[in-house]
Amino acid sequence: MPPEAKTAQGSGSGSPSVVPTRLEIKRSPSDVPLSPPEDVPVFQVDDLSVYYGSFRAVRDVSMTVCERQITSLIGPSGCGKTTLLRCFNRMNDLVEIARVAGKILYHGVDLYHPDVNAVEVRRRIGMVFQKPNPFPKSIYDNITFGPKVAGIKGNMDEIVERSLRRAALWDEVKDRLKESAMGLSGGQQQRLCIARALAVDPEVILMDEPCSALDPIATGRIEDLMEEIKSEYTIIIVTHNMQQAARVSDMCAFFTAEVNETSDTRTGVLVEYDKTEKMFSNPSDERTENYVTGRFG
Ligand SMILES: Nc1ncnc2c1ncn2[C@@H]1O[C@H](COP(=O)(O)OP(=O)(O)OP(=O)(O)O)[C@@H](O)[C@H]1O
Ligand SMILES: [Mg+2]
Repeated sequence: MPPEAKTAQGSGSGSPSVVPTRLEIKRSPSDVPLSPPEDVPVFQVDDLSVYYGSFRAVRDVSMTVCERQITSLIGPSGCGKTTLLRCFNRMNDLVEIARVAGKILYHGVDLYHPDVNAVEVRRRIGMVFQKPNPFPKSIYDNITFGPKVAGIKGNMDEIVERSLRRAALWDEVKDRLKESAMGLSGGQQQRLCIARALAVDPEVILMDEPCSALDPIATGRIEDLMEEIKSEYTIIIVTHNMQQAARVSDMCAFFTAEVNETSDTRTGVLVEYDKTEKMFSNPSDERTENYVTGRFG
């Protein structure tokens, strides 16, 4: 067991975990560059590559993701954004042929250390998918499902109300909590999925193109919601919408897919990672400029 992992115990998932809880998280300065010194690193990605079988989908990613910031991942289709995003909560463990090389530290703890409980990781680091995927249950049961599975004690009515309020959905559904979630509109369903992710009190929320199926009004509501909850959560969002990345994120990472000379495959590489403002006004790499100005991709 790594020394930094000795004290932490998983809460509620049954087996021990070395992932630090919010209370146990020690703030230590990052030794991976790219973030201003006042920022608190949550993830330190170091030379990360992801393989599906022998195919390397993403290579050599190094970046620091900081607390209470919104970090956007942008780049053309197939450059590995979803693949990388899934590494942050070990969702790739569920893909049999996926393998990760390099390191992701989460508050200084190696996320892929054998002692780390992946179920606990996914409670601390929640995920919202591209397509809203509510369970075919009531609105109420959608929210209480996660807390019950995680063994979270507490008043479920309060958890439901708090989660729905945080996701800016409460007023629209408070009189129909026992009705099926499938009867909600797409935008409401996506906010329900965000509420469901918030219900287990995560620290980080990963969002994979959360607005791609939504109209501009519903998209605006999700963006407002992200802005509101960012004081409490760390958010990483994949988006194809440049305006959205520019509007909501503090930091932005641009990836592209390089053609491998020996095979006809493409591998995703991180081209540039910087403050969003700089990425969209004065990027360092010509490839970033071409992409954010719409000349490529
Ligand atoms: N489960 C999988 N098994 C095998 N290959 C995969 C799997 N998931 C993704 N890939 C491959 O990994 C590469 C990156 O895919 P990924 O879905 O991460 O890209 P992306 O940047 O999210 O694209 P998009 O913008 O279209 O969502 C692609 O070549 C894809 O075919
Ligand atoms: Mg994707």
